[in-house]
Amino acid sequence: MITQHTVEALRARVNEARTRGLKIGFVPTMGNLHKGHISLIDRAKAECDFVVSSIFVNPLQFNDASDLERYPRTLPEDQAKLEAASCDLLFAPNVAEMYPNGRDEHTIVHVPKVSEGLCGGSRPGHFDGVSTVVMKLFNQVNADVAYFGEKDFQQVAVIKKMVADLSMAISIVTVPTARADDGLALSSRNGYLTPTERAIAPGLYQALQGIAKALQDGISMPKSIANATLQLNQQGFRCDYLEVRRASDLAPAIAGDQDVVVIGAAYLGNARLIDNLITRLNRVID
Ligand code: PAF
Repeated sequence: MITQHTVEALRARVNEARTRGLKIGFVPTMGNLHKGHISLIDRAKAECDFVVSSIFVNPLQFNDASDLERYPRTLPEDQAKLEAASCDLLFAPNVAEMYPNGRDEHTIVHVPKVSEGLCGGSRPGHFDGVSTVVMKLFNQVNADVAYFGEKDFQQVAVIKKMVADLSMAISIVTVPTARADDGLALSSRNGYLTPTERAIAPGLYQALQGIAKALQDGISMPKSIANATLQLNQQGFRCDYLEVRRASDLAPAIAGDQDVVVIGAAYLGNARLIDNLITRLNRVID
């Protein structure tokens, strides 16, 4: 695997692959890679001929300076993992390469509606930062297909809408969330958990499963959510949000909806964990 740090060098390599008629797959990341990221690379390798990954801790999507500062940066270890997964090219630009004129004058891509509420509500500006950097990376890499993890359900919805609205010539593939044996969704932020918190952490996914089961059992949506919130807070989480949304467009679920995503975020110690559960209810919400 080769690592390129500039857009110019990246483009030269990808163009070379394109001239050979290769199908280009792209896996954008912020590094500190885990098995979830590698499952994206594996899927891209299975479906494409030349796989590019990127590692860039994007300052634009952090609404909290201390969160940006402590975000784990583990380039040598990540390079070894990508190499082992047979990734073909790593693009690892620095901030000056991505934002040469600084952040304040940079064009911002704003995707309305799906970026509002949920994580967009708790992290103002976060999805503008995500859509802006992903748009840039898509233009820089010029791939045929890009791969994203389902754990970041709202992020994927934002990116899919951006691609559709702006008629971008790239396909988006979503890959199921990779989980630890106890159900915890793999995330770079799990590294912030102490051993005690790590033992409690699967409680978030269990709370989502609890809401889905309660809805199936005919318990009202507000009551299902209130019970799960109470349970999480008693376990030591600080619940950020728990919601039931329509899976197709992330609009709040209403009477008659059956295909829903139960989605949540909660703080545990120094970590903010997110997760979701896509489910088809055997009865419509009333
Ligand atoms: O999911 C992530 O790691 C990031 O939000 C992404 C898509 C790489 C953009 O910085």
